Amino acid sequence: MNILDIICKKRDKKELNKEEIDFFVKGYTKGEITDYQASALIMAIYLNGMSNKEITNLTLAMAYSGEVLDLSKLGENVVDKHSTGGIGDKITLILMPIISALGVPVAKMSGRGLGFTGGTVDKLESIPGYNTQLSIDEFIENVKKIGISLMGQTLNLAPADKKLYSLRDSISCVENIPLIASSIMSKKIAAGANKIVLEVTVGNGAFMKNINDARKLSETMISIGKLAGKETVCILTNMDEPLGYSIGNTLEVIEAIEALQGDMEDDVKEVVMELGSYMIKLAGCGDNIEDNKQRMLECIDSGNAYMKFLELIQNQGGDITYINDISKFENAKYVVPVHTENSGFVKNIDAEKLGKISCYLGAGRVKKEDDIDYQVGLIINKKIGDKVENNDVLGIIHANDEEKLKKAIDEFKECFQLTEDYVEKPKVILGIIF
Ligand code: URA
Repeated sequence: MNILDIICKKRDKKELNKEEIDFFVKGYTKGEITDYQASALIMAIYLNGMSNKEITNLTLAMAYSGEVLDLSKLGENVVDKHSTGGIGDKITLILMPIISALGVPVAKMSGRGLGFTGGTVDKLESIPGYNTQLSIDEFIENVKKIGISLMGQTLNLAPADKKLYSLRDSISCVENIPLIASSIMSKKIAAGANKIVLEVTVGNGAFMKNINDARKLSETMISIGKLAGKETVCILTNMDEPLGYSIGNTLEVIEAIEALQGDMEDDVKEVVMELGSYMIKLAGCGDNIEDNKQRMLECIDSGNAYMKFLELIQNQGGDITYINDISKFENAKYVVPVHTENSGFVKNIDAEKLGKISCYLGAGRVKKEDDIDYQVGLIINKKIGDKVENNDVLGIIHANDEEKLKKAIDEFKECFQLTEDYVEKPKVILGIIF
């Protein structure tokens, strides 16, 4: 078998068999297949698609390209959660302590941000001292001891996906249903949970720009889950505007702390409640979705969710004096409000562009080896449907570089489209598929 024949086959719109997919995934992971050959095959897949059989084989080949965890020691039902990515998506930081405080074991590996979407690991690392690089034994011990651990993906978890994801990012081949479905499900299969709740984001700040594609992606991931023996639920959420009010690492951690203290933005709350109530159900800790939501709200009100967050941070070496006093987080050098130059209602927000501005300021990576600037980012004061008066503060830019700040101010204004007519607030939860 050789890679050129495999590339030709896909280029000519033919179905690849399991042996060919395994040969490609193994060869590329070991470095025996070059980046340019892998790029050609990925582009052929992007253009010509994959059958369900091919998607399943690709998923399994990537899942078993490294270690596959066994989390059965943590209980009969271990639930994992994943988002297809969004702007200002700090859901994991808020949701996981809540459900852990309600008795659901949380063993969650998260990724770093790449491109315009952020990553939970970078956000956690903006807390001084917090260790995201644990051994698997430490990770499992943490969950046994305090019921929760959040860490970065170990190098050996689905290494094929890690390599292919960076490659896709560098050749504009991320937004593709077979490739996203296999990427996400390979990591979820390798991460060891047997129940999975997926947040599938839809809109201009998401990889899936419309609801039909989001449904197709969801159905594909659910069918992979079935074949792999993992019950999977997909929650479709609106990403036509950023989630919550902040974009950037420290800024999102601060928003998460405030949310766990009871001050949560409405859109964030809806997503947290929906995902959490299904996670509790799949974990076998509560069959009634509305009751589960009520218990989550009580858990926040009682302070238990916040206490669990503190316990998590302390247990992984983080300095909780920052959590208890958010003014200890150092501000960026420039914290500059941006004012509106018109009045009206916010009609559209270019979420993807806001993500790109935040990334440009230094909050994200263009290349995977780039360093992150934890302090920089954006505060969004106006969301879709909000009334805006002339000279209102539209948002605040946190920057450490004057040139970048100037460019960001102009571009930030362009992200908001106003109209004179009343605009309804958009729906946050767009569907649930299982
Ligand atoms: N998130 C992933 O983990 N993989 C993708 O391909 C896209 C989003």
